[in-house]
Amino acid sequence: MTKRVAILISGGGSNMVALARSMTRDHPARPCLVLANDPTAGGLTKAAEMGIPTAAVDHRPFGKDRAAFEAALTEAITPHAPDMLCLAGFMRVLTEGFVSQWQGRMLNIHPSLLPNYRGLHTHARAIEAGDAEAGCTVHEVTPALDDGPILGQARVPILPGDTPGDLAARVLEQEHLLYPAVLRRFAAGDRRPVFLPEPAG
Ligand code: GAR
Repeated sequence: MTKRVAILISGGGSNMVALARSMTRDHPARPCLVLANDPTAGGLTKAAEMGIPTAAVDHRPFGKDRAAFEAALTEAITPHAPDMLCLAGFMRVLTEGFVSQWQGRMLNIHPSLLPNYRGLHTHARAIEAGDAEAGCTVHEVTPALDDGPILGQARVPILPGDTPGDLAARVLEQEHLLYPAVLRRFAAGDRRPVFLPEPAG
């Protein structure tokens, strides 16, 4: 059975576009909803252009009441009956209550080689630390931030003189390869991790 996937975004949604484009006819999943916590998120327009239903739940009126925000999220998501959620640049921290409803059925992409650099400013922190490599990770979402079983990682070099922006662009290219590769496996029930680049030979 084809899995219905809701993709949650906060901004431009380039990962959402990569995921949506990857879900072609023979794919074990299809997009059923793109939802943003910012009604002006550029990704909403891109999703609508691709013919995917969209919704926005602005987090701001809820202030610090995360549970109320998440109740509104659930209300927006439920009619689309997703089997799973993909967080793709979704910049709100979800509570244990929400996460537990989707445990084992919710993926996230994070722009670092987890367990290194959970949270924000990952590229600046990797450069500052003098790391030789950076990358991105797709993982199952569990209540702890940027934690949970790793389903894939892609690595890139950090080059002399890299700014955080240079590195972010290099990593983002890999995000667009990694997330679709992981989703294709995961939606087919295969939780073996994907590692990019694949070893030569
Ligand atoms: C991506 O780099 C993603 O890894 C990151 O936000 C960007 C969203 O870009 N996510 C996080 O930092 C999550 N904590 P996109 O909107 O173009 O996909």
